[in-house]
Amino acid sequence: MNKNVNTQRRKLLKFAGTSALATAALATFPGLINAKTMKVGRHASLDFNPDVEISLTGEVRYTPIFSGPETRVWKVIGKVLKGDKNAITNEDSYLAPTIRLHKGQKVRIYLKNELPSATILHWHGLHVPSKMDGNPMYAIDSGETFVYEFEILNRAGTYWYHAHTHSLTAKHVYSGLAGFFIVNDDEEQALKLPRGEFDIPLVIQDRNFDQQNQLKYDGGMMMKMRGFLGEQILVNGTPEFEVPVATRAYRMRLLNGSNSRIYKLAWDDGSPIKVIATDGGLLERPETLPYLTLAPAERREIWVDFSDKAIGAEVTLRSLEFSSSGMGMMGGMGGGMRGGRDRRMGGMGGGQAHAGKSFTVLKVRVSKKASANDVLPKRLSTIKQLRLADAENPHSPRRITLSMRHMSALLNGRSYKMNDIRKDEIVPVNTLQLMEFDNGYHGMGGGMMGMPHPMHLHGEQFQVVKREVRSKSGRGYASISAGFLDKGWKDTVLVMPGEKVTILKPFNDYTGIFMYHCHNLEHEDMGMMRDLLVK
Ligand code: C2O
Ligand code: CU
Ligand code: CU
Repeated sequence: MNKNVNTQRRKLLKFAGTSALATAALATFPGLINAKTMKVGRHASLDFNPDVEISLTGEVRYTPIFSGPETRVWKVIGKVLKGDKNAITNEDSYLAPTIRLHKGQKVRIYLKNELPSATILHWHGLHVPSKMDGNPMYAIDSGETFVYEFEILNRAGTYWYHAHTHSLTAKHVYSGLAGFFIVNDDEEQALKLPRGEFDIPLVIQDRNFDQQNQLKYDGGMMMKMRGFLGEQILVNGTPEFEVPVATRAYRMRLLNGSNSRIYKLAWDDGSPIKVIATDGGLLERPETLPYLTLAPAERREIWVDFSDKAIGAEVTLRSLEFSSSGMGMMGGMGGGMRGGRDRRMGGMGGGQAHAGKSFTVLKVRVSKKASANDVLPKRLSTIKQLRLADAENPHSPRRITLSMRHMSALLNGRSYKMNDIRKDEIVPVNTLQLMEFDNGYHGMGGGMMGMPHPMHLHGEQFQVVKREVRSKSGRGYASISAGFLDKGWKDTVLVMPGEKVTILKPFNDYTGIFMYHCHNLEHEDMGMMRDLLVK
């Protein structure tokens, strides 16, 4: 009863707020209208016939993470309303359900917000219409429902989804609003890679907890500038995560679902890492790296073969130490406040959680025999190489400068503002664009305020053309660059201080607003995010 009254009141308040907002939007950009006036996501459309229909409900729940008190989290509960029941797997942890769909399927998703905050979900890496992309302007209030409808155009790959509420994304994702979105297709299934229980999605996150096992998130300005760094590593929402395996090959899908932490992942038995896929799906052929640098929001799929291991053997996936001192004052100040000086393993002690610390991510325990004889295919897929000659602007890349100053994080000197498209943010539809992210390559980037920025673009996946860096031997850069993998399709690319990364990005099929931003979620919330208008 009470709830109804409240909902009514909220609706009235919202209505009152709508006209003012709409007027402001129209004043700054006459072509744009916001979610409320457009009634975006309000109803299922009659002419959209979904193969799969899903409901996702966000609500406050208590979940056991440690022994003792349960942890209050923001949990998404999924249900298949129509179609393949395997499209949703609810997770035991705080994670949002894993969604599994096939390329070409049409999906309708009802997002019900039962959380104590406005929110919206974004399908990271998926090429969906602008209005279905979870732009912050479409955030729905508590008690409301947003209806998404789109077709899966992406190739097979490990995508994910997460909250994207303006200035609250970091906190929402931290509280639990993120999950896997796995797409498969015929090309991939024909390969016969390990599947079922031998295909394991693994999301790595860092958190802080208080004595009562409750999530801690301090929103101080220093933390925001650097990004949140937690002392407790969780894999799939679980501390001290262990994977029991059989003596055979596995496909592991790694997602960095952390707010700002960069991982330098390596096997402790010295085996190199065999990468088979990146953000936008399979590579053309497997790539072998000594370790893997995984920035926030990036994904890598790896092939791991335990067939020569003895029962009882244990292998650890670690994040190796790297130099955060080359990453400017903010990176260096994450730990013991000794910015600029060398940090050795163990030197942090006392639970200090600086950016380049070394720690265990997960353990694999070989626990049973298997006779599968999987062979890693030499060729995984065919990737259409984007060509500079096909770009609309082959000689004048769209430059996006990344900067942090005066307690703000900026793109081309600007901070995020809704409905604030500038001339250089308008992109003609069905074009290929040459773009560059400049993190102080020209100018001051290696300086005191230099920070790594994992840059992400909504819409279609892109390809990295080149990296240019002022000093390849710069300590921060040299300590992680062997783990970069710029081949294949990407939607997020790490841009180090003093570096410029050039990409080719297609803008096909859909007009409307698509965001670009830093995926360090604290930076994003500070305003290091802008809209592109594709038209
Ligand atoms: Cu994963 Cu706009 O974000
Ligand atoms: Cu995204
Ligand atoms: Cu950033």
